[in-house]
Amino acid sequence: MPGDFMVESTLYIVPRQGLHVAILMDGNGRWAEARGLPRSAGHRAGVEAVRRVVGGAPALGIDTLTLFAFSANNWQRHPDEVGALFGLLETYFFAQALRAAEHDVRISVIGRRDRLPSALVEAIEAVETATAKHVGLDLRIAVDYSAREAMLRAACWMMSSTEVTQEEFSRRVGQVTHAPDASPDVDLLIRTGGEQRLSDFLLWECAYAELHFTERMWPEFGVEDLENALREFRARDRRFGRAPVSAASAVSH
Ligand code: FPP
Repeated sequence: MPGDFMVESTLYIVPRQGLHVAILMDGNGRWAEARGLPRSAGHRAGVEAVRRVVGGAPALGIDTLTLFAFSANNWQRHPDEVGALFGLLETYFFAQALRAAEHDVRISVIGRRDRLPSALVEAIEAVETATAKHVGLDLRIAVDYSAREAMLRAACWMMSSTEVTQEEFSRRVGQVTHAPDASPDVDLLIRTGGEQRLSDFLLWECAYAELHFTERMWPEFGVEDLENALREFRARDRRFGRAPVSAASAVSH
């Protein structure tokens, strides 16, 4: 129902039709190593999990999905692994661009582009152009992304402004990461693979995000896991700083 997921804070109200879910897709390497496979096989299996989750998301009330595919710190990995990941991303983006007519998903990539191989940048531009008018799901893939760097760059850009609203800052964060719109607040952040940290992902946008950590390795994550996370999320009391309803009724005036 429209308005069901209206995000309200003391400072501004962002009307939304659906939820923004962000996912740290962790555990590909361990999943592969546990099976005696190269880490790249884990990333390949991770792409299948991406397909499952993207396919199931709209029916679960999600209208924005942000996936962390490659962090600015992932450059420290072995060049073979980085190359394999970029190859998977390039294939995925070109395939989605070619099949754009078959789905209603707008795909955009957030992060830096100046350090990426030119073939990957071409694939990104192709899929963004081919899906630009799609409205069913906003799929944002973070590649060479660092939240701290995005915030620093947005802050530098706004240095000369005397008064900056949160909406303006979100717009700048969107612009510095090549996003098509302002960077939207996250409702639910999921991290697979058993670790419980944010790893420089969407730090500005997660100010009021609910957090969900699961032991499930990303290649095994499925729509039912997403459903479980959302069930838990919907049972939570999101107060955005307000007192609980029970406390409000107990206050004597
Ligand atoms: C973290 O697991 C995962 C990554 C660094 C890459 C995620 C990439 C994909 C799922 C594939 C491409 C994505 C798209 C959108 C097509 P890890 O390798 O650090 O796992 P580990 O902690 O077990 O080593």
